[in-house]
Amino acid sequence: MKVSVIGAGHVGATVANVIAEKDIVNEVVILDVVENQSEGKALDMWESSPVQMFDTRITGSTNDYSKTAGSEVVVITSGKPRSPGMSRDDLIGTNAAIVKSVTENVMKYSPDAIFIVVTNPLDVMSYTAHLASGKDTSKVFGMAGILDTARYRSFIAQELNLSPKDIQALLMGGHGDSMVPLPRYTTIGGIPVTQLMEKEKLDAIVERTKKGGGEIVKLLGTSAWYAPGAAVAQMVEAIIKDQKRVLPVCAYLKGEYGLNDIYIGVPVVLGREGIEKIIEVELDDTERELLNTSAKAVREVMDVLDNMKLF
Ligand code: LAC
Repeated sequence: MKVSVIGAGHVGATVANVIAEKDIVNEVVILDVVENQSEGKALDMWESSPVQMFDTRITGSTNDYSKTAGSEVVVITSGKPRSPGMSRDDLIGTNAAIVKSVTENVMKYSPDAIFIVVTNPLDVMSYTAHLASGKDTSKVFGMAGILDTARYRSFIAQELNLSPKDIQALLMGGHGDSMVPLPRYTTIGGIPVTQLMEKEKLDAIVERTKKGGGEIVKLLGTSAWYAPGAAVAQMVEAIIKDQKRVLPVCAYLKGEYGLNDIYIGVPVVLGREGIEKIIEVELDDTERELLNTSAKAVREVMDVLDNMKLF
């Protein structure tokens, strides 16, 4: 089993490191355009193998895509991250061309790979990778929901002083400030969160979650990597081990939730074939409206992509 990670920045390097530490694949290749960046990080990670007790071979390559040949899963993290004051959508001008070219290069050597896109603006970059690869949408999708849900769950755990392990939640919509955390689908050890937390506190957590990425950008001057990296690794593991996990993923919709021809976060079954099923949960009128508003925000960025005439 071989996984390639394109982009050796903070997110790409963390993805590679977490996958290696899980010891679930034979080989991880990291590729970056910056000379020696991926080679150096890969070597540093490999040198941790006797301590962290993993066998996964990690190598780096400066832009030589032949090194990624035969990958089962390819993670695309290439592109610019956010700076303070920027929304994810401001990145499209730079990142769309990068994601297109990376996807085309990967396709030359791993046409059968499953693609996980991480570059922002996530929903539209997943669409870009789909267009550039020409692959079935079950094999090209994005990571956002696991990260956003993890933030939401971690805030609930902190507020209630309970284990984050026992918090289950669902969050849908685009990876932007209009994402839709769903308190009605949030439980703690099987108990609805609404029985354990006052509405005002939960509302505040929902708002904090929506701006969770921006909170990190404000603190660090760039976007997050530990939680995003761990979230991607969870998706890779679900695919490699054919776990059939139920996870929120940025997926292409063909009529589900009344939405068509759009990539947006929804719960799916993730296994060896990629997205094996899109799950349609029941939404009440308010939840549906929030999802539609989020879809509208994603479509505005899709229009920007259209106007770029890359395809
Ligand atoms: C974030 C970036 C990865 O939400 O979009 O932190």
